[in-house]
Amino acid sequence: MKHSSYKELNELQKKALDEAKIALQNSYAPYSHFHVGAALVAVDGTIVTGTNFENAAYCSTVCAERAAVVRANSMWIKKIRSIAVIARGDTFDMVEVTGPCRDCRQVLYEAAQISNCDIEVILSTTKKDKIIITSIKELLPLGLGPNDIGMDISRYRQ
Ligand code: THU
Repeated sequence: MKHSSYKELNELQKKALDEAKIALQNSYAPYSHFHVGAALVAVDGTIVTGTNFENAAYCSTVCAERAAVVRANSMWIKKIRSIAVIARGDTFDMVEVTGPCRDCRQVLYEAAQISNCDIEVILSTTKKDKIIITSIKELLPLGLGPNDIGMDISRYRQ
């Protein structure tokens, strides 16, 4: 885990964070009023965004990170290099970074197995004045993956 400033990020990391911040404006969050944007970067540099999409049946809510992963898969994007996450409340900015929830960590872990590499995770406050660079392996140590249940997913790695 590394603390970073926006200035220190490389161009792709900056772009991912910027796109995630734009994406959160489109979040559907009438219940929590908490808006999350995620932007993942594929190995070819394509950026795919996602936002949280809430539901009157609260448990059916989809988080921004999972929305981005599922969207990327639907676009035939199998190899993900990194994901940026940024959030804001309706009436307040986040002064601490927002980390992915448990379910998103599990889904990102699965995406990392398909990608066949660790996925960098860039977490930021709303104003991008506090940034943490970590990875899914670090966020979910000893995570359960396909190998652990004897599954070979190599045919999904295109
Ligand atoms: N949320 C995300 O989209 N990603 C996270 O990493 C944390 C939580 C959403 C789910 C819900 O719509 C709202 O934020 C409050 O939990």
